[in-house]
Amino acid sequence: MRISLENALVLKDAFSQPTFSKILIENGQIYQIDNYRQEEADQRYDLSGKLIMPGLINAHTHAPMTLMRGLAEDTHLQDWLFKKIFPIEDRLTEEDVYYGTMLAQMEMARKGVVAYVDMYFHCDAIAQAALDFGMKALITRGLTDAKGTGKAKLDQNVEYHQRWNNKNGMIKIGFGPHAPYSCSLQYIDQVAKVARDLKAPVTMHLYESKEEDYSLSQILSTTLSECNVIFAHCVHIKQQDIKLLAAGNFFVAHNPASNLKLGNGISPVQQMLNQGVQVCLGSDGAASNNTLDIFYEMRLAALLQKMDDPTNLSLDQSLAMATINGARATGLTAGRIEVGADADLVVLDIEKPWYLPREFLKAHLVHSASSMDIFGTMVKGKWVYLDGTYPTIDQSEIQRKAIEVMRRLIDTGN
Ligand code: NI
Repeated sequence: MRISLENALVLKDAFSQPTFSKILIENGQIYQIDNYRQEEADQRYDLSGKLIMPGLINAHTHAPMTLMRGLAEDTHLQDWLFKKIFPIEDRLTEEDVYYGTMLAQMEMARKGVVAYVDMYFHCDAIAQAALDFGMKALITRGLTDAKGTGKAKLDQNVEYHQRWNNKNGMIKIGFGPHAPYSCSLQYIDQVAKVARDLKAPVTMHLYESKEEDYSLSQILSTTLSECNVIFAHCVHIKQQDIKLLAAGNFFVAHNPASNLKLGNGISPVQQMLNQGVQVCLGSDGAASNNTLDIFYEMRLAALLQKMDDPTNLSLDQSLAMATINGARATGLTAGRIEVGADADLVVLDIEKPWYLPREFLKAHLVHSASSMDIFGTMVKGKWVYLDGTYPTIDQSEIQRKAIEVMRRLIDTGN
């Protein structure tokens, strides 16, 4: 099946300008740009009045937490976690996690996300949901070594890797040591050795709140320094540690909305970028954000950095954080529209007053666009969202099941 996307403006990557182009897709990949006859396609889409750009990447989330959206508002991080979230998580089943993940994917696809990085448990259910929906995911099992459970959790993470890694070119399994305050240095080293040997990425929370006090250089004296790591948050990263993040194969997943909502503050993103740190964007879970919207995070990130200096976070940097930087972090997608790349892209309806004048479309994408302008989201050549529909799933059935799950969790939880 050859699909041709025609008559749209195409922003090929964060650093170029949109131009009118047509795109031919075959076997999930971009087969040709412009250099083909439209008659070669089996299916043609007239996308007049639309803009195509690389799909967005959500580089840090806990997808099943959609089940707990709105459950714990106006609360401090520790109370939020220990009094509200953990008691519910203790009762979650594989099936609950499946439907929570499906809800997250519906929201992300509607808002232009093609791939996400997850840290949670019951990862068989998350991987199955990603495959059923058709969204790319780097899935990690959240790991802590509290109460002697570290080894069993790590073994489980390895089993997930054996079962799901590289499945259909859609899934990667990484390792998720939760945070330096919930994992001992020995345990971080143990996890990192396994991840390194399997060439699997690692994701970890780092310096999320100001109470967190540990040494990054000590953490990086373990085998973790040899891994590809996505560090989530880095709000309270110390000045001298920024160069450590720039030196390794590391990414920072910046979660501005979650950081503000939980009272954790603002990450020094521009300083990190200036020193060569690779920064991408995440939403964090829906229980602390409460939306899984990378368009929104992109604008918020830019505004927060501009508070000190309006030249901070340029349009190119903002768009790169939302697309290609996240793509590099996950290794699941190219983050750019080019021949040979997977067709992971977003179509926006730009026939709206807030996309004028047309000369400044990149400014509009960062500062006046909304994820609600999205017309279609395609992952590996398949539409996962198109013009109000979800072609790969039964939307009403999934919502019905998810509502049942939420009712049960919340009824018995309070
Ligand atoms: Ni998180």
